[in-house]
Amino acid sequence: MRIVFGVALALAMSPASGETLVERGAYLVNSVMVCHNCHTPRGPQGLDLSRALSGGSQIFDAPAFKVSGSNITPDKDTGIGSWREAELKRFLVSGIRPNGTRVAPIMPTAFYTVLTSRDLDALAAYLGSVPPVRHETPAPEYKTALKPEMPTYAGQQATDAELTDKLARGRYLLTIAHCLECHTPEGPSAVHDFASASGKGGRTFRGPWGDSVSPNITADPTAGLGHWSDDEIKRAITQGIARDGHKLKPPMAYAAYASMTAQDLDALVAFVRTLPPKK
Ligand code: HEC
Ligand code: HEC
Repeated sequence: MRIVFGVALALAMSPASGETLVERGAYLVNSVMVCHNCHTPRGPQGLDLSRALSGGSQIFDAPAFKVSGSNITPDKDTGIGSWREAELKRFLVSGIRPNGTRVAPIMPTAFYTVLTSRDLDALAAYLGSVPPVRHETPAPEYKTALKPEMPTYAGQQATDAELTDKLARGRYLLTIAHCLECHTPEGPSAVHDFASASGKGGRTFRGPWGDSVSPNITADPTAGLGHWSDDEIKRAITQGIARDGHKLKPPMAYAAYASMTAQDLDALVAFVRTLPPKK
């Protein structure tokens, strides 16, 4: 009896029981957190997974910086193979590299402040397990001092216990998937107007696809998703199909979100529906 009780307790305390840390990390990196979108090179066929995570093709050229997604494979010279696990975990929630420099805020570390300690362990375990790829990426250029931002719902580490609640889990997923990074417009003095326009959309993304503008994903009935069904929202996120059926453009990583578990997708959509309406 005692042993059975012990097992039941262990299962209850581990929300993703049966999943190893590396499997959990793979799910986060390859699906929910879409790291490949910025860190894997692109060829004519899309992402070049033979060189997965060895540095992104896209250059982020902003007034404050010009950077591209780093090589985050365990290659010792051109990747992060010489970082200790504790340094990587600290970096993911602070944006500070082991050498003390701060990464450009396009790397969504401000959103990652919510990561549970188990998910940080999982990310470190998985990133340590991927094949090292030798690939030199351009050195970052920082033009002015980088100002850290604090996105909506970020700033405090979540716990596994909290994430058993559906809406809390949806809020967590929305945050680590950095949805509001793209779906929040610029503010008068900040890169994002999280204070008054969170989820309102209106950012323009220029690329080989032309221009795409992030829509309003708040619960507003006309400007936002208020009248969409859950299934329509899921189809937009995982298949890149708009409510009227037209194909949505990049850079939203629809294919990566498509491998989210049904339970996580339900939780994410339930929380998206609660985003305070913005006109
Ligand atoms: C929106 C794009 C984007 C996403 C998504 C993203 N990153 Fe990054 N990341 C960047 C960019 C750009 C840099 C380099 C910025 C600079 O050099 O200042 C970077 C830097 C890093 C670095 C620092 C390496 C170094 O020495 O420069 C690590 C580690 C890292 N990212 C890991 C991850 C992981 C793990 C994920 C997914 C959980 C992820 N990133 C998701 C854009 C992104
Ligand atoms: C890298 C930027 C980026 C990220 C991250 C991102 N999106 Fe998007 N999203 C866009 C863009 C741009 C469009 C519009 C594309 C178009 O119009 O062709 C879009 C479209 C959508 C749509 C369709 C809305 C409509 O009115 O057609 C929904 C719903 C949506 N995103 C929700 C989300 C959710 C939820 C997340 C997080 C899981 C997310 N997005 C993450 C950029 C992003």
